Amino acid sequence: MKNKQFPPGSFGIPVLGETLPFVVDPDFITKRYERYGSIFKSHILGRPTVVMVGPEAAEIVLSSHIDHFSWREGWPNNFKVLLGESLFLMDGEEHRLKRRLIMPAMHGPALANYLNTMENITLNYLKKWEEQQEFTWFQEFKKLTFSIASELLLGTQTDAESDRLSKLFTTLTNGLFAINPLTLPFTQFGKAIAARNQILEHLTQVVKERQKNPTKDALSLLIQARDEEGNSLSEKELIAQAVLLLFAGHETTTTMLTWLCLELALHPEVMQRARDEQQQFVGNSALTLEQLGQMPYLEQILLEIERLHPSVGGGFRGVIKEFEFQGFSVPAGWQLIYAIPETHRISEIYPQPERFDPDRFSSQRQEQKQRPFSLIGFGGGPRICVGIAFAKMEMKIIAAHLLRSYKWEILPNQSLDNVRIPTIHPKDGLRVRFQPL
Ligand code: HEM
Repeated sequence: MKNKQFPPGSFGIPVLGETLPFVVDPDFITKRYERYGSIFKSHILGRPTVVMVGPEAAEIVLSSHIDHFSWREGWPNNFKVLLGESLFLMDGEEHRLKRRLIMPAMHGPALANYLNTMENITLNYLKKWEEQQEFTWFQEFKKLTFSIASELLLGTQTDAESDRLSKLFTTLTNGLFAINPLTLPFTQFGKAIAARNQILEHLTQVVKERQKNPTKDALSLLIQARDEEGNSLSEKELIAQAVLLLFAGHETTTTMLTWLCLELALHPEVMQRARDEQQQFVGNSALTLEQLGQMPYLEQILLEIERLHPSVGGGFRGVIKEFEFQGFSVPAGWQLIYAIPETHRISEIYPQPERFDPDRFSSQRQEQKQRPFSLIGFGGGPRICVGIAFAKMEMKIIAAHLLRSYKWEILPNQSLDNVRIPTIHPKDGLRVRFQPL
């Protein structure tokens, strides 16, 4: 047998490995990528780990060698405890069957039915922000996107109910990367578990109600969904999938919207072009699907936000079958992380990668098309984000209304530095002064 060579890198200090720098240093992966290249080893969250960067690496993980990797064996234990037996942590045939039951609630005719609700909730928030005048956008987008998610996914009717759930989800999310997962009530992880229990209690009630009286929300569609053999999701599965969809469905969208508003404020020429594009619709009443398809420049801007400010830092996997990449061998049992922001900053694909330049995605340039898996803000391959169409439609509706009718300026004395965990966001959340045009 030929000698196997592990990837370069360091396992760090005993026991802790490199967990601490991984969690606190936003440049942890960049520094090692510059030193070692597209594959390097480390020791993170108690396990030997291989980190992979770049489109070739992403293609292996997300597509060509997907059966070498397990999601359940990959995501840290906190995720398993807090997100339960949901799609996110399933593998193989079980995953394929459940994903097929969930997909119709997030695409096609179901998605088209969500447009009006997304727009109406957005318009209510715009009025509220107009009165408030000054606020922190990260917090406000979180409320807005959670209202949209809880109304469309669960059929939540009241603001009070949505606010309560939103706060519980924030506590749950904060526990995902808590380093000391003790379940004592005062630890971050203990608080997250308590929040999860309250969420489960609430969802158990909602599922029972929707089973009796189905409405138009995604949960009601999931209750009625059947596979080819007539199997449906059990009550326990419905609750687990609903927790996942609510969790995955708002924090990510919130961070992308926050960066969108920051970049637009920093680039008045981009803002003006995007406003000009909206002029064709002014005077029209409610947005239509057809109109949403006529905003190519806004689409370019959103792709550039996905590239430069992806919400998710990367994906975790467990290596279940040994594999090789660039001559290095990675054994079964290791943890794997594929890196998203660093893949989006490879200068051979995206020249001057730190520059915000929506024209990278113009029909003439299409920089992302040079190499598959160069733009992976929503993952890729057969397990690409289930909510991609939902999130893109929601962001477009919100952005279109902001561009048509409002202006905003960034307030002084705040930090706009990147914080990477749990989702990548500007440190102080982007405080702005907001006015009608
Ligand atoms: C801007 C918004 C969003 C971003 C950036 C985003 C990002 C991602 C990424 C990167 C993955 C793949 C993770 C991996 O490969 O390990 C993923 C998967 C997933 N996302 Fe999203 N997401 C967004 C919105 C949503 C929404 C709105 C929903 C649902 C309502 C959702 C539900 C899911 C689910 C269920 C999965 C797991 C899919 C599977 O394993 O088959 N996401 N998302």
